[in-house]
Amino acid sequence: MDTQLVFQDPSRIVTPLLAVFAVDITPGKTEEPLPALLTTSDALTNAAAQVLASGEFKAALGEVVLLHAPSGLRAERLLLVGLGKAKTLSVEQVRKAAGTALRAAKPRGLRSVAVAFPEDHALSDESLEELPCLLTARVLVEGMELGEMDWDTYKSDRKDQTVPTGVIVVNESSNSSNSLNASTRHEIQAGFEEGRILAGAQNFTRSLVNEPGNVLTPTELARRAAAMCAEVGLVSEIYSTKKLQELKMGAFLAVAQGSAEAPALIVMRYEPKEVAKDAPVFGLVGKGITFDTGGISLKPADGMEKMKYDMAGAAAMIGAMRAIAQLKPAARVIGVVCSAENMPDGKAFKPGDVVTAMSGKTIEIVNTDAEGRLVLADGLHYAKTLGCTHLIDAATLTGACVVALGKINAGLFSNDDATSAQFLEGLTVSGEKFWRMPCTSDYRDEIKSQIADMMNTGATRYGGATSAAMFLAEFADETPWVHLDIAGCAWNDEQRPWLAKGPSGIAVRSIVEWVRSYATAKTT
Ligand code: BES
Ligand code: ZN
Ligand code: ZN
Repeated sequence: MDTQLVFQDPSRIVTPLLAVFAVDITPGKTEEPLPALLTTSDALTNAAAQVLASGEFKAALGEVVLLHAPSGLRAERLLLVGLGKAKTLSVEQVRKAAGTALRAAKPRGLRSVAVAFPEDHALSDESLEELPCLLTARVLVEGMELGEMDWDTYKSDRKDQTVPTGVIVVNESSNSSNSLNASTRHEIQAGFEEGRILAGAQNFTRSLVNEPGNVLTPTELARRAAAMCAEVGLVSEIYSTKKLQELKMGAFLAVAQGSAEAPALIVMRYEPKEVAKDAPVFGLVGKGITFDTGGISLKPADGMEKMKYDMAGAAAMIGAMRAIAQLKPAARVIGVVCSAENMPDGKAFKPGDVVTAMSGKTIEIVNTDAEGRLVLADGLHYAKTLGCTHLIDAATLTGACVVALGKINAGLFSNDDATSAQFLEGLTVSGEKFWRMPCTSDYRDEIKSQIADMMNTGATRYGGATSAAMFLAEFADETPWVHLDIAGCAWNDEQRPWLAKGPSGIAVRSIVEWVRSYATAKTT
């Protein structure tokens, strides 16, 4: 999708569909106040006046109303898009509403959508939270580009519902009463560029997650990651069984040994020269199980097809690296993806086996379906040997995390309060939801083994997401580390007005935000 930014009077734009945002200002001073448009354009306000006065449109988030041939406008259609309550307005609502506008065009076969940049000063009322310019521009692009994606790649009779063009119209009339100052213009432009990068990266992640396991094998994931790296100027290294053996990655190798598909260790490096030698180095470690059958501890057939998305953590890290390469923060970042297929086979690893991880720690395998933590154990340790001072991992790790948090929040675990707080702070910008869960030494007994340093499952059936995190903590060791369990949030089971059903691309934006929060400046 090609997104453009124009500065002009929105009533003058020639487009099949112009979207304008409205907020719900109830409870207000008057009895039943009607929704208010976030525009200072009289022409737009007049065109929408009748439908607003009807009270039929409440401006709830995701709600739309479409007017044909709106009078006084050059647009063929005017779409009013609800942002929800003005009192609690956040940029996340704008992101979703922008996606809603885009997706409203699809079934109508429209090929271009223009969105009027929300003008929060249109409401004199203090009932409205302020929308910072840069972020607003950014979320408009993100919302539209994320909303544009549909997953009909493998359908031979697919209907073309693509919307190739999206336009953001910032109200600037030729008469000087509505001219923007240079710094506002600059911020909008910067936010627009950031939005394009972040949405592009997140959509790249989503496309990887959408691929079936027979197409996206570990080798193919590595090929696509390497191609992306070459495109954006990252250095990549791709390794397989031989290197894993050299590195003594016994945990990772154990998972891979039952599959006819070779494992892949993907290293992606963003190491700008301008960064001080002693500055932090971020290690982004992803679980890349391209299909998880459970192995010898075989999963039930019902729903197993969904285990193609067991590489969503890896895809998030690959997408995050792509965005980082383009945003160019002053920080060093190394992506490490551990990719394998978890299969039952005569050669597969078995419950009861004892394996030695790269760190030298021994692991008793109790359940071969707890494979994610095994590949990550070696990935985290390896990232440390590459010089990473801060670690983050993302993984569709446990069903227990889905039981605990549902599909609204993903789990966050950490061995360091400051690092975890820094990550959580970025969520107001990324709009993603992570909930911190415990990962303290009191839980260590859960993974105590009779015969090895630890076992790969918890001793009881309780607190499984924490047991998995405790296992990973053994390999992060003293290094500040954040673990993201995205099992419940990597795949949307239902479509939303702003997003297709399918891969969500969760964690890309938050991880990028976290890395950027440590960087002092942008490199050139
Ligand atoms: N890939 C699964 C976790 C998962 C569950 C991802 C649901 C997405 C949705 C993981 O490898 C797994 O099977 N974990 C086991 C661990 C158990 C055997 C200790 C689980 O959660 O049941
Ligand atoms: Zn599993
Ligand atoms: Zn898994």
